[in-house]
Amino acid sequence: MVLSPITHCRRIRRLTYNDLEVIAGWDKDPEINRLTGRMAHEKDEMNEWWNNMMRDPSRMNFAITDNDGNLIGDVALEQIIWRTREAELRISIGNKAYWGLGYGTEAVMEVVALGFFVMHLDRIYLRVQEDNVRAIRSYLKAGFRKVARLVANGRLHGTVDLVLMEMSREG
Ligand SMILES: CC(C)(COP(=O)(O)OP(=O)(O)OC[C@H]1O[C@@H](n2cnc3c(N)ncnc32)[C@H](O)[C@@H]1OP(=O)(O)O)[C@@H](O)C(=O)NCCC(=O)NCCS
Repeated sequence: MVLSPITHCRRIRRLTYNDLEVIAGWDKDPEINRLTGRMAHEKDEMNEWWNNMMRDPSRMNFAITDNDGNLIGDVALEQIIWRTREAELRISIGNKAYWGLGYGTEAVMEVVALGFFVMHLDRIYLRVQEDNVRAIRSYLKAGFRKVARLVANGRLHGTVDLVLMEMSREG
């Protein structure tokens, strides 16, 4: 029997269709919506959201769970470019009761390990609002480093500037 590498993960598992409605509810929270910038989906959009996710070879989505297996958020590798072996990480712990307890850092570390050692990516990067101190602290703990400041202009004009962070397989 061949075990999937994700079987060995403690904080993340495969995302399922049933997770989407809960995540969509969290995404409607104005604070989470501002921090993640993710579009909030309506109930009647679940099928389309799921199908788009499953069909897209440039993204891998995972659920984040607590120690009892309850869904608390989601994390993904997106914008995967297989030729250059890089991807963008996005994460949201939608259940706010779990913020600041270490779950986010653990989930990031598990996804990064899958990215580097199972998917054989060379570089994982992320963008975070510069005032999102909790997220930046968590990414630094997971091993990301700050590489640039991205000024919010164009479509993002008037919003908070972003910090680009990255991690390479070679360290
Ligand atoms: C960002 C997120 C994934 C981090 O996960 P988490 O489980 O909350 O983070 P952790 O507990 O692993 O680490 C947070 C760290 O920030 C620190 N922290 C929390 N709030 C802080 C604050 N206001 N100022 C300074 N440090 C703070 C914590 O003390 C902890 O550091 P420590 O372990 O050295 O004490 C999670 O909070 C989340 O999903 N937030 C909402 C959506 C979001 O911001 N997504 C990221 C978009 S880029």
